[in-house]
Amino acid sequence: MAEQGSVVVVGGTRAIGFEIVRHYASAGDDVILTGQTAANVAAAVERAADLPGKVTGLTFDLADPVTIRAALEGVGPVRRLALVAIDRDSNTVADYDVTRAIRLATLKLVGFTEVVHVLLDRLTPNASLLLFGGQAKDLPYPGSTTVSTVNGGVEGIVRTLVHEIKPHRVNCLHPGIVGDSPYWESRQAALEATIKRTPTGRLTTMAEIVDAAVFLLENEGMNGVNLKVDGGLHCM
Ligand SMILES: NC(=O)c1ccc[n+]([C@@H]2O[C@H](COP(=O)([O-])OP(=O)(O)OC[C@H]3O[C@@H](n4cnc5c(N)ncnc54)[C@H](OP(=O)(O)O)[C@@H]3O)[C@@H](O)[C@H]2O)c1
Repeated sequence: MAEQGSVVVVGGTRAIGFEIVRHYASAGDDVILTGQTAANVAAAVERAADLPGKVTGLTFDLADPVTIRAALEGVGPVRRLALVAIDRDSNTVADYDVTRAIRLATLKLVGFTEVVHVLLDRLTPNASLLLFGGQAKDLPYPGSTTVSTVNGGVEGIVRTLVHEIKPHRVNCLHPGIVGDSPYWESRQAALEATIKRTPTGRLTTMAEIVDAAVFLLENEGMNGVNLKVDGGLHCM
């Protein structure tokens, strides 16, 4: 019998996060999804209403980490924790928006860590964690100064967490551009160059990212891995 405890998806209101919610709720798991806006959280819970698992929602701002403990107060035993959220900025050194940069850096580097800190004593014995970084850590683009820095930082968090939360497992997934994720819907023209450079001749899909996420969360041999899922673009 599967270990008791819920699946928590931080940044689960839409796109990749919601597809992870859908995967686990479809398998009958109780899932808690979170977002930064109450309306998006409520809409996502509503979208998941017909799935076999019970899906509930919580709203809090990862970029305001001192509020996280209170927001997670009612969360019981946790067997899977996926930290998926991002609030993208567009930042170059030449035109640097300090407020945006602090917000994004705080969201992933402090916010993700604080969620783990708060939930640490509620992790079930076989619990596993997954953090999301991204390909921008290795392949910067104009405006990715903060995103590249932050996604590189997530790799560092995973290394330290392997030591600090053992025997629980923790891994990180670094997607390439996910062609069917909503963020890129209005930006298709910008993707042509990446498609041409990708050895598979196409971009990765949300289904492929979710498949890799579930592999990292479920395979008990996987620990401390920073997995690139980008169709091989990192080799080019
Ligand atoms: N999509 C891609 O092509 C791609 C490529 C490389 C890496 N990634 C990584 O994959 C992950 C998922 O990307 P995505 O495109 O699926 O994300 P997305 O559609 O932008 O969804 C972001 C999620 O994060 C939540 N969120 C945003 N700001 C927050 C904050 N301050 N506090 C708490 N929650 C917050 C949002 O909640 P609300 O709905 O309430 O705003 C939403 O649930 C990210 O970590 C991203 O860096 C994605």
